[in-house]
Amino acid sequence: MIADTLWLGKQVIQYKETDSTNVRARLLAQEQGAHGTIVTAESQSAGRGRSGRSWESKAGEGLFMTMLLRPKIQVENASMLTLVAALSVAKAIEMCVKMQPQIKWPNDIVLNKKKICGILTELNATAEGIDYVLIGIGVNVTNRLFPAEIEDMASSLLLECGISVNKEELLAEICRQFESCYEVFCRTEDLSALQKEYNGYLVNKDCQVNILDPKAPFTGIAKGITIRGELQVEVSGEIVHVSSGEVSVRGMYGYV
Ligand code: BTN
Repeated sequence: MIADTLWLGKQVIQYKETDSTNVRARLLAQEQGAHGTIVTAESQSAGRGRSGRSWESKAGEGLFMTMLLRPKIQVENASMLTLVAALSVAKAIEMCVKMQPQIKWPNDIVLNKKKICGILTELNATAEGIDYVLIGIGVNVTNRLFPAEIEDMASSLLLECGISVNKEELLAEICRQFESCYEVFCRTEDLSALQKEYNGYLVNKDCQVNILDPKAPFTGIAKGITIRGELQVEVSGEIVHVSSGEVSVRGMYGYV
């Protein structure tokens, strides 16, 4: 249980090893699990990333957690929760390591241009509205080595900051930050009150980005997010709103 939050993490289900905390949280949600429940694991045998990828989840190396939420908001506003989570995790990491991480839109956290955290958000809705939202967060805490295919773009808090962050403290700080940002978000169901702060963490801000849209890729300058979480990209003096796709900055690691 997280001591100093109002509702998030009042119930924490901890696994030493499980398949995926998102899978466990989904089962819990289907069995009437409460809003604000957190599922954690020391290791995952089937850690899941976005776009069907896997997530490196060796014992002791990372923080693997999923928040089960039952937000009373419109379904069409739920996707912004992933940006709320990214901002909260960035703030929590900053508190713990005293270095400012950055956010690669929409929701990867990077330090020194390397990915140290990924977020996987899943939604279940019915005709009546949102049933539950799962926000799975994986932070690379003490990893020293990564599989060859991601070693150029992935890193850990230990490698970038030189300290072994206490995972319980990081979990508690993420909960504190998320609870507060979530309350702010739910008042308006948009990012109007969080946009400025989010943009302050944006790694691509005022940089050239390639929008890798399979139908029509293009290049422009990232100008920050809208209050709905779209990336504003300046192309030939016009602002284009990007709501999906992958953004990367040309000339760097290919990842940011
Ligand atoms: C990404 O691809 O960037 C998202 C990675 C999300 C990984 C976390 S680890 C905890 C939770 N359980 C999972 O299986 N995935 C998420």
